[in-house]
Amino acid sequence: MTTSTGHPADSHPASELTALEALHTTPARRYLSPEPIPEDVLWAILDAAIRGPSGGNTQYWGWVVVTDQDIKDRVAVWYRENWEAAYGSRREEILSTPAGSRGLTPRGFLGAEHLAHHLHEAPVWVFAVLRGAAEATSPRAGSSIYGAVQQLCLAARAYGIGTSLTTLYGGHEEELRELLGLPQDALTMALIPMGYPVQGRWAQPRRRPVEEVVHWNAWGATRPRPE
Ligand SMILES: Cc1cc2nc3c(=O)[nH]c(=O)nc-3n(C[C@H](O)[C@H](O)[C@H](O)COP(=O)(O)O)c2cc1C
Repeated sequence: MTTSTGHPADSHPASELTALEALHTTPARRYLSPEPIPEDVLWAILDAAIRGPSGGNTQYWGWVVVTDQDIKDRVAVWYRENWEAAYGSRREEILSTPAGSRGLTPRGFLGAEHLAHHLHEAPVWVFAVLRGAAEATSPRAGSSIYGAVQQLCLAARAYGIGTSLTTLYGGHEEELRELLGLPQDALTMALIPMGYPVQGRWAQPRRRPVEEVVHWNAWGATRPRPE
């Protein structure tokens, strides 16, 4: 059987990572260069993202690529306000959190703070937009787009481009709808700022041990993982 990757970006080949290597080495990258992303690379990444799943394969989605500086500047203000409201007063507390605790580590916090102050400099933003989500009552509405969002992040990683899934721009839905010209029933489900990383590395994301979060047949039935 032959598989097709469509039209990969010829001018900038993707790295030969295995799928598992990519899954283990794609943390949020929040220190991004303003260096532009070649358009063929962007197409290749988006073409990989839209291979992701949606309920009934409805693909009731759209991917709004933003390079317009005015749009970025406006949305970045909302993002910073929300960042301040959510984390501003907790700065010292989080920065003195002992290593190994759950939640944002001090390093993660500094990265997220950096992004809050430099979001508008990321060369490309992608808004993942889900039709019908504005009126959705199902708590699972997002499941029809977040798989594809993660594919976007993994495809970007293959081209050496950093991403993070963000939602802190929220709370200005009508203004954003107008700014992006979105249909009435649509909602942005995430903003993914993209760019070439200038700091940090493709380190394995820190998570609670797999044995601790996996339950066998019933909640609470955890098991040790064989060596
Ligand atoms: C629903 C959701 C919303 C998020 N919103 C933001 C955000 O607004 N800003 C941000 O910097 N990171 C955001 N993140 C990224 C998380 O902070 C990130 O996944 C977490 O810190 C783990 O990072 P790591 O993969 O580098 O270990 C969000 C993640 C999810 C799943």
